[in-house]
Amino acid sequence: MSSFWSLYISVLTLGTIFALTWLLLSTRKGQREDLTDQTVGHAFDGIEEYDNPLPRWWFWLFVGTLVFALGYLVLYPGLGNWRGLLPGYAYLDSDSRREFGDGQTGWSGVHEWEKEMAKADARFGPIFAKFAAMPLQAVAKDPQALKMGARLFASNCAVCHGSDAKGAYGFPNLTDSDWRWGGEPETIKASIMNGRHGVMPGWGEVIGEQGVADVAAFVLSQLDGRKLPEDAKADPVKGQQIFASTCVACHGPQGKGTPAMGAPDLTHPQAFIYGSSFAQLQQTIRYGRQGQMPAQAEIQGNDRVHLLAAYVYSLSQDKPATQDDQTK
Ligand code: HEC
Ligand code: HEC
Repeated sequence: MSSFWSLYISVLTLGTIFALTWLLLSTRKGQREDLTDQTVGHAFDGIEEYDNPLPRWWFWLFVGTLVFALGYLVLYPGLGNWRGLLPGYAYLDSDSRREFGDGQTGWSGVHEWEKEMAKADARFGPIFAKFAAMPLQAVAKDPQALKMGARLFASNCAVCHGSDAKGAYGFPNLTDSDWRWGGEPETIKASIMNGRHGVMPGWGEVIGEQGVADVAAFVLSQLDGRKLPEDAKADPVKGQQIFASTCVACHGPQGKGTPAMGAPDLTHPQAFIYGSSFAQLQQTIRYGRQGQMPAQAEIQGNDRVHLLAAYVYSLSQDKPATQDDQTK
């Protein structure tokens, strides 16, 4: 810390303590010693205030907290660059905050957390490393690995993909055989490691409202083989032409999708994440969609993602008998 900020913090902290001491002592001066039933003269909703001195215990409690604060600031690092009289805080002087060693004893929230993490790494690191060295397919058959993967999934992925990994509006189901980016074990791992950003452009301005309705009708009735709502004013034949000129580049000539760009298969409406009704399809086509899967490489690191990928992969495979307790 620069000496300016060190001084700034020290003056602010000590100044506050001294100001409070002054406030306490100055208001005590000239106060009566005895109790009285005289009031100070104002009333709030019928509640009046007596003109009595502070209770003694309250005064000494206040003094106690001031003394405690000063004692704390002498012993522990609290005032800018002052490291405190207790041993163990020398590491705070080094520029790198990573330099906690075993010899470090000083208590601080960060230090305690790092010690916990180091302990956990020592305990689980070798297990993570063992699985990270195995191919994903093999990890996906290991009950212990799947259990660990399920835990990681529950705390990091369930918020979006659901605790059963079946997805929700805007978030894909990870347990079926429909994949937006591909379902090979390594592809799943890449999805988790680097994240994914699906970009479906909006077409409303380009093809117009009628064009949106027509092409939505084509997707719904021709690609999906479903029935158009009766009141739909849309022409699937015109829609097909629009599809051929506008959509095939990404969704492919048969509408089967292009995993390399995350363009989903439009012949599987049950896997649509933005809804498959006629109205929802038009909404998607009119304004476009931008699904974001956040990259986990920095947050989880390779070894944990390896377990996560194996777990996710296992969800859409034939389940081994031991899977029962993982889905709970
Ligand atoms: C530039 C490539 C591209 C073009 C062109 C494109 N799409 Fe898409 N489309 C995507 C991507 C990528 C997604 C996935 C968006 C996401 O995951 O958020 C998508 C998603 C969709 C969805 C939503 C599927 C779901 O899961 O709910 C529909 C429906 C769709 N597109 C239809 C069309 C139609 C119809 C056209 C032509 C008018 C079209 N797309 C043109 C790339 C494209
Ligand atoms: C903030 C919400 C969010 C979180 C958290 C999240 N995801 Fe996703 N994930 C998404 C979205 C949205 C997509 C779809 C991206 C797209 O539009 O293509 C996705 C896509 C995926 C895919 C690709 C699916 C496919 O069909 O190809 C996988 C695999 C995946 N997520 C796994 C995970 C795992 C494992 C975790 C936990 C580490 C996780 N996700 C956490 C939102 C999230």
